[in-house]
Amino acid sequence: MCCEKKLSEAAAEKFAELDKFIDSLNLAADDERRRGYLIQVLHRAQDIFGYLPREVQIHVAKRLTLSEAAVSGVVSFYNYFSTKPKGKYCINVCLGTACYVKGSEKVLSEIERVLGVKADTDPTPDGLFSVSALRCVGACGLAPVVMVNEKVYGKVTPAKAVEIINEYKKLG
Ligand code: FES
Repeated sequence: MCCEKKLSEAAAEKFAELDKFIDSLNLAADDERRRGYLIQVLHRAQDIFGYLPREVQIHVAKRLTLSEAAVSGVVSFYNYFSTKPKGKYCINVCLGTACYVKGSEKVLSEIERVLGVKADTDPTPDGLFSVSALRCVGACGLAPVVMVNEKVYGKVTPAKAVEIINEYKKLG
């Protein structure tokens, strides 16, 4: 019960922070202007919550007096937005053709094995890592490519992937 209360208090604080941001915007009455703010508000919401669960999308829709469909349409259009929780470090393994041919699937399997989570599912229980597979990230000359947040690692072997993970574990 105590933990549940703490969780809901934490969520309430986050919603309050988001409301403060929305209140600071000069929300115009016309739909076009409010739509213009939508991406900005969703960015802020994702910064605050870490991702955009449905209840946050509904809240944003209400505050901007837009339809839920308009908000979820934007969320699903941009890769940047996530509806699932992510780890502090997002490991993205490229499975584009050049990387795949050079063994990126084995790299992904090793990362999944070492972290004990599958790609595109929940983060590790400590919240440090989440794993995803990507299509070509435009660095084919470095294949196989792995990205951790914005940082690009090239010519990654399964063993090198484990070293990379260990570096981030040390950072905590
Ligand atoms: S296929 Fe992986 S970077 Fe292009």
